Amino acid sequence: GIHFYIVCFLAYIIGSIPTGVLLSRAISHRDVRQFGSGNIGTTNMTRMLGLPVGLLTLVGDAFEGYVAATLPFWLQLPHAPLVSLITGLIAIVGHAFSCFLKFKGGKSVATTAEVLLAIDPKLLLLALAIFLVTLAITSTVSLASIIGLWGTTIAIAFMTTPLLVGYMAVVSAFVTARHWPNINRLLTHSERTIPYGLFATW
Ligand code: G3P
Repeated sequence: GIHFYIVCFLAYIIGSIPTGVLLSRAISHRDVRQFGSGNIGTTNMTRMLGLPVGLLTLVGDAFEGYVAATLPFWLQLPHAPLVSLITGLIAIVGHAFSCFLKFKGGKSVATTAEVLLAIDPKLLLLALAIFLVTLAITSTVSLASIIGLWGTTIAIAFMTTPLLVGYMAVVSAFVTARHWPNINRLLTHSERTIPYGLFATW
């Protein structure tokens, strides 16, 4: 019904909110898109303004995914579990093609993380564990993001429904495609790695 389309529209608007752009402008009067990798996410915000501001960006972007994917339950839509997969995906795509940024945007890692939390907290725990291990080994956020998602997809492949495995594969493929510039840098050994020191800007 009409409610389905309204909730999809809302999920897109919520996912579109560019936390990093808003925060960087408010705090530093500069735009994070003019800095470092040019990405609007947690990683580049941390490079530009330090970890506390980076984490604030993470909270904002992640919250968008969680709200979008739980909205169908709050509004008690019919088939809420299925609709939440759709609204979650819309927020993930919306964060990358934001109506507030001339249909450009981020890599949707944080938004994806909280969509996974909304679907099943075990998914987020698994993705986060793989992410953190990869980050600890490589100090490279982009690589840890990609491996965290595909690692989760592979790990659940024979343990859950084909729908959920397919969904994870689609989300992983989308986020990987968003990392195309990072993949090019990884292949040429020029990708940025995180330095030591929690409050360092890099
Ligand atoms: O948060 C996205 C991360 O995976 C990569 O960010 O700025 O290094 O392109 P960045």
